[in-house]
Amino acid sequence: MPDPRPLFLTTPIFYISGTPHIGHAYTTIAADVFARTARAHGPTRALTGTDEHGQKVANAAAAAGMTPQQYVDSLAPKWQALAPEFDARFDDFIRTTEPRHIRACLALFERMRASGDVYEGVYEGWYCTNDETFWPEAKLIENRCPNPECRRPVQWLSEKNWFFKLSKYQQPLLDLFRGDPRFLRPQARYNEMMAILEEGLEDFSISRSSFDWGIPLPGGGVLYVWYDALINYISALGWPDDAEGLYARFWPGIHLIGKEIARFHTLIWPAMLMSAGLPIPQRVFAHGWITSEGGTKIGKSLGNAMDPFAMRDEFGVDALRYFLMREAPFGSDFSISIEKLRQRHNSDLGNDLGNLLRRSLAMLQRYRNGLVPDAVGGALQERVADLPALVTEHVMAFRFREALDEIWNLVTMLNRMIDEQKPWELYKHERIVELDAVLYDLCEGLRWLSLLLFPFMPAKATEIWRQLGLTGTPERPWDDELVWGGLAPNTPTNPGDPLFPRIEST
Ligand code: MSP
Repeated sequence: MPDPRPLFLTTPIFYISGTPHIGHAYTTIAADVFARTARAHGPTRALTGTDEHGQKVANAAAAAGMTPQQYVDSLAPKWQALAPEFDARFDDFIRTTEPRHIRACLALFERMRASGDVYEGVYEGWYCTNDETFWPEAKLIENRCPNPECRRPVQWLSEKNWFFKLSKYQQPLLDLFRGDPRFLRPQARYNEMMAILEEGLEDFSISRSSFDWGIPLPGGGVLYVWYDALINYISALGWPDDAEGLYARFWPGIHLIGKEIARFHTLIWPAMLMSAGLPIPQRVFAHGWITSEGGTKIGKSLGNAMDPFAMRDEFGVDALRYFLMREAPFGSDFSISIEKLRQRHNSDLGNDLGNLLRRSLAMLQRYRNGLVPDAVGGALQERVADLPALVTEHVMAFRFREALDEIWNLVTMLNRMIDEQKPWELYKHERIVELDAVLYDLCEGLRWLSLLLFPFMPAKATEIWRQLGLTGTPERPWDDELVWGGLAPNTPTNPGDPLFPRIEST
């Protein structure tokens, strides 16, 4: 069972100058599945937003003939639309240009300075503007950014900047990682960060002085964009004044990120918080990449971005959500293709789930005038008793695929029940008690499926709910609802259109 404390889940805040692609939709959907499952158990808050400062944004704004503020304002709506377009519900959307964020950044900077962890120094070295990252010379590949997705030329910088004594936090971070291996999952990312930690940490420049699109510091210069961005997780909760009490209630939170930004989230960010005397995140999960068939990360700069909007238009939001959560273990890289999506749509969703609903309600219509029989207590009850806890446990550990595997066991059980018990024969031989028991189990099983699938496929789960003749939506507390026998006898069911009409390849 999840922690009964209020739960706070975040996505990375996306670079405003990028274009939403399937990778951003993936994180957004995963966060929503997690948050919806958590909401079925208790108070939950989900946060997403945009990362709006930095040299890259300043350059793009200049190229577009706008001020940086005009430029980011013109781009924010397309990012704000991302979550609703994929039926993902967040409680807040933070933009790093908002006053609440700027206030928090300056307050955190001051706190860290008061701890004696911030000093002035000269930064000389290589910088990749595209990745907004400083690179040591030894890491460069032919004088270019070593990130395989970037490989752009780097610039030589020589600036008077503020530095954070990250090196001081090597031991506390080692203690954190050793004491709580669950702090960062999956294991591969944990091992990677441990290796970095064991090698030693260098102090870290947290301001820039050669350009001004960032949060201005009192003595000149602006905050480094990554330093500013990480603070969104607490600025969005109202830290430091916390007028609404959100910070007190919801921090520390859980961060869901892509694996390429694990270092920022699990080394630098916790050290910043330690320095400021604030609690560190509860845990971080760094998921894998969606790659194109050849294995390269999908991203705008490679020009091979898969358009999630087109996929959604062809298959529907819920089928796309299901596919992304079922196709691969969360944490691993995987490639997607329209063909794979079509196969899962037609087999798992159309044949297994859609037909189950259609057949069950059709038999109920034929043999029982569409009314749920009065026959609680069939064979299924015991076999599903552990299912809600198992699904919850998997989702809370970001094992979405395993959660769906468990849910699909119920789908398979119900389909098998039809094939083995042959309700049409029970009807023919007037074995009404047995017939009613099977029909009740099918309907109640479908009610459970609707509740359990709601976080993954909110619209289709609601449609199952509606066809079962239930009112409202399956967004309900699981502890109250996932009790066998919840479907009232004599409920008039409401069969409708097929849930997932077959999609042929074109
Ligand atoms: N602005 C920073 C994050 C700051 S968080 C304090 C950033 N932004 S981003 O726009 O590049 O988004 C990166 C995130 O988008 C990844 O961490 C991941 O969540 C998601 N993805 C982007 N491309 C992806 C794939 N190809 N596959 C899976 N997720 C991907 O980094």
